[in-house]
Amino acid sequence: MNRLKSAYGNFQLQRYPQDKKQTLRAWDAADEYLLQYLHELEYPLNERSRILIINDGFGALSIALHPFKPDIQLDSCLAEQGLIKNAQLNNIDIDQCHRLNSTQSLTGIYDYVLIKVPKSHAWLEDILYKLQPHISPQTAIIAAAMAKNIHSSTLKLFEKIIGQTHTSRATKKARLIFSSFTQNTVKPSPYPKQFELEINNKTFAISNNANVFSREKLDIGTRFLLENMPPPKPYKNIIDLGCGNGILGLVAAQQNPQATLIFTDESYMAVDSAKTNFENAFGSTRAAQFLVTDCLENIEKQSADLVLCNPPFHQNHVVGDHIAWQMFRQAFAVLKPEGELWIVGNHHLAYHSKMKKIFGGYKVVSSNKKFSVMFSRKAENND
Ligand SMILES: C[S@@+](CC[C@H](N)C(=O)[O-])C[C@H]1O[C@@H](n2cnc3c(N)ncnc32)[C@H](O)[C@@H]1O
Repeated sequence: MNRLKSAYGNFQLQRYPQDKKQTLRAWDAADEYLLQYLHELEYPLNERSRILIINDGFGALSIALHPFKPDIQLDSCLAEQGLIKNAQLNNIDIDQCHRLNSTQSLTGIYDYVLIKVPKSHAWLEDILYKLQPHISPQTAIIAAAMAKNIHSSTLKLFEKIIGQTHTSRATKKARLIFSSFTQNTVKPSPYPKQFELEINNKTFAISNNANVFSREKLDIGTRFLLENMPPPKPYKNIIDLGCGNGILGLVAAQQNPQATLIFTDESYMAVDSAKTNFENAFGSTRAAQFLVTDCLENIEKQSADLVLCNPPFHQNHVVGDHIAWQMFRQAFAVLKPEGELWIVGNHHLAYHSKMKKIFGGYKVVSSNKKFSVMFSRKAENND
């Protein structure tokens, strides 16, 4: 069930983090299609080929192609953990491959670029612009996705930024996109994009990397939480959980000048944007930590006074409330007694029932047609 069978070998693969209730595989038919296609090439990959793999889900492509020592670029630390754990599971030394995160620059020219098409159109645009200096007309650029996730706008991006593009026929509902570098002009990526936000008479310059949530303007849920922030108190430690561009933490920092901030997100681009925005607003002297991590992993238990969160309701293409559960449970663990978790959520997500279950209660601060802002307090003798 968890074995990927490919022409490059059979591999045991798991999703990360593992959710016993989830029956989804750690790879899809697009991974299988791409591996089969590469294996049947007239001039197959060899040890001298320079290969770049971008946005591999949980390591299916990287693990199958590890003998060719590809460069592997990821934005998600969950995907990175998945890759490392799956490599261990198959006794593969993945450190032989060069791993980069999405904020790090590529070097040299690649012979093969293999892209798992990301959910975010903006990130795909950024990927393609940043590839331009690292490809030649001889580079084989092959992207893979389930057919339902390849739109005419996806193909137009490849055509505009890379050049001639065509697709394969669909196999098991997956398709490949083939592009050759025929563009004459090399342009910089339009990301990060900026917008300004005025809150409490202070204007924040908000810079957003390509794969950051609500990168063009303030999200309406976030806005509602900003309008209903916890009243300032002598908080020592405040956490912006799933920080995106860090807006919640920035405003909390402004309202609580004595507090130390921690920003966490599973996306390297998000944490990088939050850091840029924090340093622009407060300089590099104000105390803050910026962690690319799974929810609140590696944060000391009973260390925080306040956690702010606008929870995500999907991980890539998988929709669900499993991340919200994990975030609320871990928030409970890292909060000090009397510490508070403040969240905003769409009514239909019913976050209140999770908060009640974990904290024993919750209070609604404000509600509009779509959203509620709520908080739960950790009881004095509760850990
Ligand atoms: C709805 S967005 C909110 C972003 C930001 N706080 C705001 O209000 O604009 C949810 C954020 O959670 C992040 N996220 C998703 N899964 C996560 C995980 N397992 N651990 C940490 N962050 C995660 C996403 O990358 C995204 O930035």
